[in-house]
Amino acid sequence: MGKDVIIACDFPSAERTFEFLDLFKEEKPFVKIGMELFYAAGPDIVRQIKARGHKIFLDLKLHDIPNTVKRAMAVLSNLDADIVNLHALGTKAMMTAALEGVTRPDGTRPLVIAVTQLTSTDQQTMEADQLIEKPMADVVMHYARNARDAGLDGVVCSPLEAAGVHAACGKDFLTVTPGVRFADGDVGDQKRVMTPAQAKEIGSDYIVVGRPITAAADPVEAYRRCVREFVD
Ligand code: C5P
Repeated sequence: MGKDVIIACDFPSAERTFEFLDLFKEEKPFVKIGMELFYAAGPDIVRQIKARGHKIFLDLKLHDIPNTVKRAMAVLSNLDADIVNLHALGTKAMMTAALEGVTRPDGTRPLVIAVTQLTSTDQQTMEADQLIEKPMADVVMHYARNARDAGLDGVVCSPLEAAGVHAACGKDFLTVTPGVRFADGDVGDQKRVMTPAQAKEIGSDYIVVGRPITAAADPVEAYRRCVREFVD
């Protein structure tokens, strides 16, 4: 898969999600389904959006003992998402088990990527709550290497970390980056942001964009602007 813009469909119901997706008459954007929509609408929402022709990043961030994650991933692989994810903090053993679980009998599987440190965690919180005293950049790169060593396809990371991840793990190791804002747009609660053009420049493979598209006066035009800046 090449560079693409993934829309974070952070909606509370299937109805609101379809209302939003119905706005797109010409394009079939890559869609991210997170915990809110998945828990509200149930697993069938993945099949329904897929049946409309969209690619899907199922962002459920699994983190449990290896056997539980393996079995949960086996269930998720039946939903036919294109990307699924988990927390690298769950250990290499958990990531390896996840890959085994998600691989179908015919050998196919969705891409599996790992969350390193959430962008909502800063150095101070990491030290105080997780008792990790190394610099954030080292921690993120260490988790990214663990994910690569376990055989995963990439990581979710801040756009600011994408170049470092590629340097540490190779250019084919995917970087999926949220925290994207237009130069003239609202930053909202995101702390460290980049424009789609900057994310392209530093080598992100996919950008995840939520409110700059979902809350725009013209979401289709906002999506097209992201594609123009990031992909074209
Ligand atoms: O609306 P906004 O563009 O901020 O949405 C970003 C999306 O990416 C949200 O669904 C958010 O949960 C997700 N995300 C993030 N930062 C991370 C991981 C995921 O913003 N580190």
